[in-house]
Amino acid sequence: MEIIVTTDYEEMSDRAAEIVIAEIRAKPNLVLGLATGSTPEGLYARLVKAHREQGLDFSRLTTFNLDEYVGLAPDHEQSYRYFMNRHLFDHINIRKDNTHLPDGLARDLGRYCRRYEQMIREAGGIDLQVLGIGRDGHLGFNEPGTSLASRTQLVALAPETIEDNSRFFRSKDQVPRFAITMGIQSILEARRCLLLASGASKATALKGCIEGPITSMLTASALQLHPNAVVIADEAAASKLERLDYYRWVQEARSEIAHRL
Ligand code: GLP
Repeated sequence: MEIIVTTDYEEMSDRAAEIVIAEIRAKPNLVLGLATGSTPEGLYARLVKAHREQGLDFSRLTTFNLDEYVGLAPDHEQSYRYFMNRHLFDHINIRKDNTHLPDGLARDLGRYCRRYEQMIREAGGIDLQVLGIGRDGHLGFNEPGTSLASRTQLVALAPETIEDNSRFFRSKDQVPRFAITMGIQSILEARRCLLLASGASKATALKGCIEGPITSMLTASALQLHPNAVVIADEAAASKLERLDYYRWVQEARSEIAHRL
């Protein structure tokens, strides 16, 4: 894992945008995996800016989002489709039919989940997967206890996640109880993973992700098995890492030989 520690949220978003923009420039038909939540909002704002000011071209890009609530229509203000349109897709030159999120209204959910996996395969697999991390260490909606070999599936949200996400709804009762999420195995198949973490509330989860044992009790820890994972965390999120000094040391060392990497 490459671990980049930044002073704050803004710098975390800058560094993440540099990586995503470089990948899009290197491969204009990139298959990009996306995440929702407040963490990647700064990254999406920077991608929109790069499109407006530098003409960054999204016309050949394909995207797949990690997850979606079950039962919310795409025009529901709290659906992840609505979030993605509002924060990114409506402001760049991407073709909407190249943007994919799980369909939370699908009738046969089991069949639909298999179809979502197939769509990813048909697109050639995900090149770069953007990830956030839940307070309980989840990726997507892969709550503690989810198999690390899981694939896209229907899941019941954990009470902590319902609580966390209730801030976006009028009341806790309105938060859907179910979601479709890409599984941990599906995420690990992305060629590169980019996990973002910001704020002290993520410090324990991030420590488990980077330094804890690999366990289904903290599904983000499975990223330790990924050969090309980058974590960008601000100081508050990184505050519980035991090897923090070492990660900083490695970053400095890398910058010395960056021209040869
Ligand atoms: C939700 C999403 C996750 C996201 C997490 C953290 O549970 N399904 O993909 O990483 O929230 O959200 P935030 O970035 O708002 O802390």
